[in-house]
Amino acid sequence: MKERTFPEGFLWGTASSSFQIEGAAHEGGRGETIWDRYSAIPGNILNGDVADVSCDHYHRFREDVAIMKELGMKAYRFSVAWSRILPEGRGAVNEEGIAFYSNLVDALLESGITPYLTLYHWDLPQALQDLGGWSNPDMPGYFAEYARILYDRLGDRVHHFITLNEPYCAAFLGNYEGRMAPGLHDFSTAVRVAYHLYLAHGLAVRAFRESGIPGEIGIALNLMGRLPLTDSPEDVAAARRADGYLNRWFAEPLLLGRYPQDMIDWYREHHIVLPAFREEDLTLMSQPLDFVGLNYYNDFWVRSDPTVWPLGFRVVNPKGVTTSDREWPFTEAGFTRMLLRMQKEWGVKRILITENGISFHDVKNLDGHVADGARQDYLRRHIRAMRDAMDQGVNVIGYFVWSLTDNFEWADGYRPRFGIVHVDFNTQERTIKDSGWFMAEVARRNSIW
Ligand code: FCB
Repeated sequence: MKERTFPEGFLWGTASSSFQIEGAAHEGGRGETIWDRYSAIPGNILNGDVADVSCDHYHRFREDVAIMKELGMKAYRFSVAWSRILPEGRGAVNEEGIAFYSNLVDALLESGITPYLTLYHWDLPQALQDLGGWSNPDMPGYFAEYARILYDRLGDRVHHFITLNEPYCAAFLGNYEGRMAPGLHDFSTAVRVAYHLYLAHGLAVRAFRESGIPGEIGIALNLMGRLPLTDSPEDVAAARRADGYLNRWFAEPLLLGRYPQDMIDWYREHHIVLPAFREEDLTLMSQPLDFVGLNYYNDFWVRSDPTVWPLGFRVVNPKGVTTSDREWPFTEAGFTRMLLRMQKEWGVKRILITENGISFHDVKNLDGHVADGARQDYLRRHIRAMRDAMDQGVNVIGYFVWSLTDNFEWADGYRPRFGIVHVDFNTQERTIKDSGWFMAEVARRNSIW
């Protein structure tokens, strides 16, 4: 394969999130989150795993930053646990929480690594869920207050912010499918949550502009293709609906200032309670962003199934596709397609890959080495696919692997390992996997081959 270089200054990095790595659930004045509550309920998390300790990053962040430096990573995306800053979600600031992130940021900067701070990666303070969580119309205002605190306290050193991570998951997996916290099963609530998340995003962007911080703000969306399993009109329509549910419901209000009419109609027909779609709300939601983050894992195939209320489709993998241990297919051509689509259909001018990666049940060999060739293959294919989109004119400014270390993978607990660094959860020992050394080489050469 021919070696293909990236533009100078291309940002190679890794990504993580607070709940998945920090541990120290009852330390440093941290308040309870919806994920603590959800994980404690038997049956919600595979093997009954909890994230009370996880990778113990709260105590070991210096070691983790040293690993990033050793790998030559240029940037690091992490999220702040709202409940470390405001244990009750509102009110008095917990200085210990600020100090933790402030020390992390200093350690990154001393190592020449640019911090990318996500304000919300799903770990809502439980105290706010007790008030109705994101379905409460006061939430966008509380979120903006929290955002202002971070701009104020960290904005002297952090110049890159991401408002929300994957609002689709927070809204629909959390409030309709129940596969994530807070574990509800109500479609209308999920739609309302999605709407409030976007109002919150809009207020946080506005507050950022008002703060005068010399920097950039964006969001991280999970946009992935939904392909019809067959070319029957039913499957084609189902795929379009699946695309509306996952992709267009989030891309359009943010980037085009409107909600997709076919989905509005479909939801109305199915008696879903819809928000007001006020003009001023859409203006707030669609303010210009400095970049749009894309979390890309894989496309999925869908089949029409009228018995599934209210969307009428099911996700299926065709026989013979290469998948991860979680049945996630390798669909790197879909990555190129989504990047082109973001530019053409939604007019995105600067894209940051805020997550891309894959899980396997990696094992450490007796010689202490983690030979994760399949992950390396996945990453290589996706970096090439990204380069293909760039060759066709898409402006991608960086690529963050999910994830630096193995961690708590939500409802799947510790079983899927996504890291380019292996973690022994008994000893907390970190071991750089082959894919980690591969990423180091990619960053060093600033190329893919
Ligand atoms: C994404 C999440 C991230 C991680 C990866 C595997 O949906 O943003 O926290 O769980 O999937």
